[in-house]
Amino acid sequence: MVSDIRSAEIREQSRDWPSMDLDPRQLCDLELLLNGGYSPLEGYMGSSDHEQVCASSRLSNGVLWPLPVILDVSEATAESLSPGDSLALRDGEGVMLAALTVDEIWRPDRNAEVHALFGTDDTDHSGVAQYLHRSREWAVAGKLEGIQLPVHYDYRELRLTPLELRRKFSRLGWRKVIAFQTHRTVHRAQLAMMSDAAGEAGANLLLHPMVGLNQPGDADHYTRIRCYQELMPHFAKFMARLNLLPMAPRGGGPREAVLQAIVHKNYGCTQLLVDFDGSGTVLDTLGAPAYTPDGARDAMARPSDEVGVEWIAAKEMVFLEDRRRFVPADEVPENGRVLRLTADEVRRRLDDGREIPDWYTYPSVARELQRRHPVRGSQGFTVFFTGLSGSGKSTIANALRVKLLEVGGRGVTLLDGDLVRTNLSSELGFSKEHRDLNIRRIGFVASEITRAGGVAICAPIAPYDIVRREVREMVAPCGGFVLVHVATPLEVCESRDRKGMYAKARAGIIKEFTGISDPYEVPADADVAIDTSDMTPAEATREVLFFLERQGYIAAPDTE
Ligand code: PPS
Repeated sequence: MVSDIRSAEIREQSRDWPSMDLDPRQLCDLELLLNGGYSPLEGYMGSSDHEQVCASSRLSNGVLWPLPVILDVSEATAESLSPGDSLALRDGEGVMLAALTVDEIWRPDRNAEVHALFGTDDTDHSGVAQYLHRSREWAVAGKLEGIQLPVHYDYRELRLTPLELRRKFSRLGWRKVIAFQTHRTVHRAQLAMMSDAAGEAGANLLLHPMVGLNQPGDADHYTRIRCYQELMPHFAKFMARLNLLPMAPRGGGPREAVLQAIVHKNYGCTQLLVDFDGSGTVLDTLGAPAYTPDGARDAMARPSDEVGVEWIAAKEMVFLEDRRRFVPADEVPENGRVLRLTADEVRRRLDDGREIPDWYTYPSVARELQRRHPVRGSQGFTVFFTGLSGSGKSTIANALRVKLLEVGGRGVTLLDGDLVRTNLSSELGFSKEHRDLNIRRIGFVASEITRAGGVAICAPIAPYDIVRREVREMVAPCGGFVLVHVATPLEVCESRDRKGMYAKARAGIIKEFTGISDPYEVPADADVAIDTSDMTPAEATREVLFFLERQGYIAAPDTE
């Protein structure tokens, strides 16, 4: 960070500089570079550091550093810069956070990076694909001057910098501090695991959840932090503290664990509690493949000596029913009855409104989860109809709208194909790109309606599978998503030809007409399929209503 005088100077000069808005992951890196969390790293790596780090986990000056930290940019940005230029780094709102005096513009070897991080050359692996930004194949490096840390409006009292936290520990007289880093909600099992580790090591605890990739307005973020806050009073008195770590998970297995050791050392910790799953992946990362637990331990053992932070493997804790307490899984007596609950089971219980058992979590934490995840009967949902023109989508969608209004309890919005094309997508045609864009827009609006607890009924043709799946992925985290394939055969649709469009399409007057001169990909993932050839609209609507009832979204409909 530069002085106030220098900062004013930079702001003044920066008016004519090119600038770059950082994405959430880049903002995390910048915050840790500027607040000392990444010390001894002082700026983005150049090509020689990158190469050395990928090959041997060391910077070119020999200092241990396990993962690349680069400022990746698009080819267009790279081409617009020359060594000696200054670049303003800004957040999404345009606030200038730092200045970079460019001394190198280069193309990182992403394959070497992927190999180093993930222990695989498979760039299609989901964790890898999520990590790589195909649109940002270039990088810039140079002198970094910090003007201000990224702005956070929420939980400021929980966002101590490394220096502030070290001072705090020193005031509290905490000499040994175990960090536990996570990006999941934690419950009694993790609390028992942390307390057990702290007891064994005679240390205090820092619960240090990664909050890097959360966006403002991301409700899960607030729920998660409220859950941590509810959990804190259940630790022994003066044992633990909560702080938020502005770090983005990379999915890099043992190398990422080493980076966390360095970061936590900077935050004043002496030990790091690492949670492995059965295959040796460091939990709470995006799922790096290809590490065995032993391999991971070996990979971490030496570097952690050098960093000066000891790592402790978290013990799996299970609930022993007759003793009513958590014990390490390897200490369960013969015939001991153990209770377990997977994250999926917890989600199902929340969906169905069943209780989350007291042995699993504290009632106040369960209440937070229930508030965030109401039973299906109170969740918003989207019913997405897909099918050929004339298949009956609009008719069923309209009838469904009326029936859902009759059921009541939620606002209902109809995003019919024609309606959307008039109001939301009036400039679009029927090329694949335009159709996909049209469907993405519908998906976005539907996800917002669903998130707000309403019902979105969508009825476009949506002929392409991939973009339909994209919409499902967009909506599902916000509530329910039901895909209804109106599977009326082409011959029937064509014989109806209400708008005379099939005739025009056959005559070549309308080009790229779905089913005639443009494809329709039949969905393999439809929740309901309806052929309206021999069905009245009321009967077809009933099929959808019954499905919604079976899934718990609505009470038994009056279908007389
Ligand atoms: S898409 O593919 O989902 O973006 O299509 P959608 O927004 O639902 O628009 C389909 C309606 O537009 C009319 N129309 C066409 N449909 C298909 N192909 C071509 N080339 C075309 N040109 C115009 C057609 O009447 C569709 O209305 P519906 O209500 O489905 O019959």
